[in-house]
This record gives sequence, structure tokens and C-alpha cells, in this order.
Amino acid sequence: MNILLKNEPLSVITAELTVLFLNEETLESSEYKEKLSKTGFKASQDAFCILHESALVVCGVENYGSAALRSAAATVVKNVKGFQYSSLKLSQYYLKNVAPLVEGFVMGGYSFEMYKSVKTEVTLKEIIFSNQNFNDDAIDSADVKKAFDDAVITATATNFARELVNTTPQDMTPNALAVVAQDLADENGLACDILEGEALEEENMNAMIAVGRASIHKPHLIHLTYKPDNAQKCVSLVGKGLTYDSGGLSLKPATSMVTMKMDKAGACAVLGMMKAVSELKLPIEVHGFIGAAENMIDGSAYKPDDVLKARNGTTIEVRNTDAEGRLVLADVLSYAQDKVKSDYIFDYATLTGACMVALGPYTTGMMGHSNHLKHNIMKATSHSGELVASLPFNDHLKKLIKSDIADICNIASKPYGGAITAAMFLENFINEDMKSKWMHFDIAGPAYTESAWDVYNHGGTGAGVRMTIKFLESLVEKK
Ligand code: BES
Ligand code: ZN
Ligand code: ZN
Repeated sequence: MNILLKNEPLSVITAELTVLFLNEETLESSEYKEKLSKTGFKASQDAFCILHESALVVCGVENYGSAALRSAAATVVKNVKGFQYSSLKLSQYYLKNVAPLVEGFVMGGYSFEMYKSVKTEVTLKEIIFSNQNFNDDAIDSADVKKAFDDAVITATATNFARELVNTTPQDMTPNALAVVAQDLADENGLACDILEGEALEEENMNAMIAVGRASIHKPHLIHLTYKPDNAQKCVSLVGKGLTYDSGGLSLKPATSMVTMKMDKAGACAVLGMMKAVSELKLPIEVHGFIGAAENMIDGSAYKPDDVLKARNGTTIEVRNTDAEGRLVLADVLSYAQDKVKSDYIFDYATLTGACMVALGPYTTGMMGHSNHLKHNIMKATSHSGELVASLPFNDHLKKLIKSDIADICNIASKPYGGAITAAMFLENFINEDMKSKWMHFDIAGPAYTESAWDVYNHGGTGAGVRMTIKFLESLVEKK
């Protein structure tokens, strides 16, 4: 599907349907009020109606804010795909809020078809925004064009992450993830470094190696670099890439195992971010680090009772092999900090079911030491289309991951506050000078959905990509 901005008045643009977003007030004054009332249309959020004879598609919005428009745009595209129309157009009026609309159209139009023998035939090929009003004035086209192009890049990169998350564990193995990273690097001019086998041993990545040991698909560490000449800041992004999480010997129950292909969503989000930053040409040096492994069982599997010596020398008592993500991240975080001196280091992981219990399935849990950084992230990401909430550390919870036989335990001794104790485990692998520059994002809730909500359909959501791009953009000094 093509999404375009044309310097032509709406009336001149050829398209099969015109899109209108109406709230209660604008419905009242609409020339289509009578016709719409006959269909029973009410201008509630995401209410949808096509007036075929008027070549009009109408969607209700609660207001004209970004969240309402984003969701409505997704509703339009999801519904229009069920008809035989090939093109939509929108008036220049909507360019005031072009980014969320573009996101809604691009992300709402995504569905996962890879394994369908018969692919859904989509007739909708074009969505065109008019950038000219009746007086032939194009509104500040440079700004609008940039907002439009950037939104297409970010939304497309988010869909790229979603497609990777959705790809099955037999296809998207740690090695396959590394191939995807290498291909992305080749296409977008990134540097790509991949470590496996002996190279991981030489780096003492013992925790990550232990997690992946029982799989026929061996662990890979991926390091992508985007290094523009005009970089103003340097940021490291680290992703949990469990291409499958069976739980290992602490085996998951059958029903909890289904969907665990999504345990690589942090890694896929980092790949999406690398794609976006390089295409947006942000003046920020960005490093993407991915720990890719599969948590499986065979005779060589790591065990509850094992003690692992992580890359930074910390000894970890394993009490549950299903708390594997933190073990992988421990080594990758340590590696990332040694390789690159960055201004910020963020990690993204489907780390704990507890985070979903705490915040519900739609919200990312943000954890770290710096309230200042949390504040800046919240500010920058508030209109990103993603929901983020902070979960606070405290010293009482920290005591729960003490071990009697090693430096720390990989699970807490009490069941509550599991998202926070997991983050406090990771803290042991953050160097002193990076403590206030590190932020952990638990995306276990929003990374994957089995029912459509907002701009999403069934499957991966690309959680993390849009909010991080917004934060990175906020670091760029305005001229
Ligand atoms: N990958 C899971 C977390 C998860 C659960 C993500 C549900 C998405 C949906 C993680 O590796 C895990 O199994 N965590 C355990 C930790 C526990 C053993 C302390 C959990 O959340 O149950
Ligand atoms: Zn697990
Ligand atoms: Zn996991």
C-alpha cells in the first residue's frame, strides 16, 4: 500500500473514496448528516460507515487529538480492506495531525500473512493526502512533508519489527535474526558485528551461553552500529532475543508456552529502531545490541541449582530456568557498556509476566534510577502512541534477590513485585558510571496481542520502536 502527499486540491485528486473523521459536533454540521443518520451512524470513537453512493468513508472520533485520529485511521484501513476499493483521499485539513494519521493507516494496514497458503487479496493500493486547500495554498510544505515522511519511516520500521516477532521459532532462529541484522546493515549502511560459538566463550558470556546451550540453534550476539558524521549524542539499545522460551527445565505449562515466539520482541524492536534511525538520518550515534538464544531442554540444559559466572564476574544462582531473559541481558548489557561509551543505555525485554499483572497488557513498564531521565522519556513519548508507566525500585525488594551461595539469585524469594525485582537483577550488570543513564523497558504486556486493539491486529505490535524514536528525536538540538 502506497501512502502519498500531493500538492493538489482534494477535488483534483483521483481516488475512489474520500475519508472524513467526524466527532459529535462536526457530524451535526456535516452536509452528510442526513444520509449518515439513516445508516444509524453515531460519531463515537472508531464508529465506521461507508456511503458508497457518495464515495465517502466516515469514521467517528472522540476528538481531533493524535490518539483518537491514529485509532480512527487504523479503523478505516482495517475496514476498507474488506471491500474492493483501491484508493482513499483526505483533505488538507488533516495535515495538522498528519503523523498519527499516517501511523494509523500504515500500522492498521498490517497483517501477518507469511504462512497463509492463500494470501488475503488487498485491493486498497493508495492513500493520498491533499496538501492544497480551495485557494490553492499549500500549507508549509517543508514541515508537513518532513512530518509525513518521518511518520511513514517510523511506522514502516515498526511493521518490520512486527513481522519479525510474528515469524515462527523454527524460521526465526538466533542465526536467522543475525542474518536479518546483517541484511539490514547492508541495506541501510550500518556496521554489523556478530559473535557466536568460541567468540562468545572468549567474551565470557557464560550466562547467555548457558541459556542457549540446550538448543540446536546456538546463541548469537548481534551488534549493529549507525554512526552519522554529525552525531550529537550516542545511545546504546539492548534487546532480549529469545527466539523461543519454553522455560527450559523449569518448563512452562502448555498454555503459557503458546505465543513464546514473541520472547524475541525486544530484539525485533531494536532492529526496527536501527532501521528507523538510519532512514530518518538522525544526528545521533546509535548502537543496537541483541542477545539471541533459544531456551530449550536437552541433556546439556542448564539447571535450577547451577551457579553461573556472568561476563562481569557476578555469580548467579539459578533457581528457575524460565527467568532466562535477565541472564542473557546480564551479559549483553555488560558487553555493550565495555564496547561503547554511550550517553544512554536502554534495554527492551519481554521480561516478566509480573509486569502485565502490574500494568495490564497495554503498557510498557519503565524502570531505572534516574527520575530526571524517566521524566524526559515520559515527556518525549507521551504522544508516541505507546503507553509507558514507571515502576519504582526500593531496597526492600532488592533484598529478595540475595543468594546464600552466590552473589545473586535469578529469581526473587517472594512472588510480588516481580517486574521490579527482575530490573533490580539487571542493575547488577550496569556499571557505576552508567547507573543514571540506564533505563529498562519491560514490554511483556504490549509486545504481542491475540486480539486487535488500537492500530494493532493479532500478533507482534513493535512495542518500543515508536516511543524510542520520539525520545531520540528529543535529544537532537534544534537549530
Ligand atoms: N518471557 C517470559 C516473560 C513473559 C511472560 C513474557 C508472559 C510475555 C508474556 C520470561 O522469560 C519468564 O518466563 N519470566 C518468568 C519469571 C519468573 C520465573 C520469575 C515469569 O514471568 O513468570
Ligand atoms: Zn522465561
Ligand atoms: Zn523469556
